[in-house]
Amino acid sequence: MRKNRRILVGVTGGIAAYKSPDLVRRLAERGADVRVVMTEAACEFITPLTLQAVSGHPVHRHLLDTDAESGMGHIELARWAELIVIAPATANFIARMVGGKADDLLATLVLASGAEIAVAPAMNLQMWQNEATRKNLDRLRERGVRVIGPAEGGQACGETGPGRMSEPDQIAQELLGDATPKLLADAHVVLTAGPTWEAIDPVRGITNHSSGKMGFALAEAARDFGARVTLVSGPVHLEAPAGVTRIDVISARDMLEAVEAHVGDADLFIGVAAVSDYRPVRSEGSKIKKNDEKMELGLVRNPDILRTVAAMDNPPFTVGFAAETDRIDENAKSKLEDKRIDMIVANDVGGEDGAFGNDHNRATVHHPGGAIPLERHDKYGLSVRILEIAASLWRGESAGLTADPDAS
Ligand code: PMT
Repeated sequence: MRKNRRILVGVTGGIAAYKSPDLVRRLAERGADVRVVMTEAACEFITPLTLQAVSGHPVHRHLLDTDAESGMGHIELARWAELIVIAPATANFIARMVGGKADDLLATLVLASGAEIAVAPAMNLQMWQNEATRKNLDRLRERGVRVIGPAEGGQACGETGPGRMSEPDQIAQELLGDATPKLLADAHVVLTAGPTWEAIDPVRGITNHSSGKMGFALAEAARDFGARVTLVSGPVHLEAPAGVTRIDVISARDMLEAVEAHVGDADLFIGVAAVSDYRPVRSEGSKIKKNDEKMELGLVRNPDILRTVAAMDNPPFTVGFAAETDRIDENAKSKLEDKRIDMIVANDVGGEDGAFGNDHNRATVHHPGGAIPLERHDKYGLSVRILEIAASLWRGESAGLTADPDAS
């Protein structure tokens, strides 16, 4: 795979446009530089802002846009692209391609560019089976256009059969190959994620703002690196990545029990969960009545899961996270030493841009041999960088570890 392929993603107006941001993300993960062009109809299904956020570049929409033309104009864009992929490609857009129309920006770019072109059709079953569509696609294939999919299954219109847009990862894989080197092939990775809930009574408890996004992204990335993954999760509203074994727990003590049951044969343990350090001395069996002006809550320390794993006789390579609001790196380094772990990921949980709940995060990895600052990524992208470093250290190959070029 050649890095930094210049790919223009064209989004046309179909319900499958909701999958386009994921496609942009999957292409970028594979090292592509991605720009997006949307038709007017596409903007009825998804906002340009979403695609701007995932691609990191303004979205192009209009043929005659003086602002856009003063930046990268449409002819430059046509020359810039090495590959144009239309996803989703509606039956109407496919017909316009066949007819050689140049009546909007995307159609013009397709006509004006010498780039390789691929389409990922998405339409209702009847439209897909219609002879006109079949012939149109044959004509495009004859001209060298690559047709990816469609997939079969339930459709937004209620029909079942071929016509759904192929999954973004499959499209990206067909265009650029498999993204991830299997750095953790055959390894067993156990992770904790999310918050814990320490019950005060049946309706109240002590918890925190962890959404589980960071831990779930790491679980997904570890799976993509070829690992067998066990994810022990506190209460969150997320679906586990396919192929990952998920164990749901509530409290810190439940989490420790689940970790101890699965960590025995683990090669790596990653503690991402925001575990409550304390729990109420007693959890009442029925709801506490508010009879008094003041109420005192006695708290007792919870077990430290990370420390427990690191202190095992034959511990896995153990990675912790440090959630800090100030003196971030200094505090993270003390946790690395104090908990006797192999690596710690320091992140800032203060402010609106902090790690809690956001889709993006920035971190510095500390290990006994040094510190590696990582730039801000979406949580999956950051997970890939964290796992590359963890895999190198685990294998004893720390020589090639480098910071992200723009990270400070
Ligand atoms: O879930 P998100 O919304 O995506 O947010 C991500 C995150 C902020 C929760 C995550 O990036 C993060 O920083 N996780 C660690 C949270 C935390 O509890 O940090 P800490 O500095 O208090 O703990 C240090 C380490 O000890 C952590 O690896 C923690 O899992 C572990 N620990 C802490 C206490 C305890 N009783 N047992 C533990 O294992």
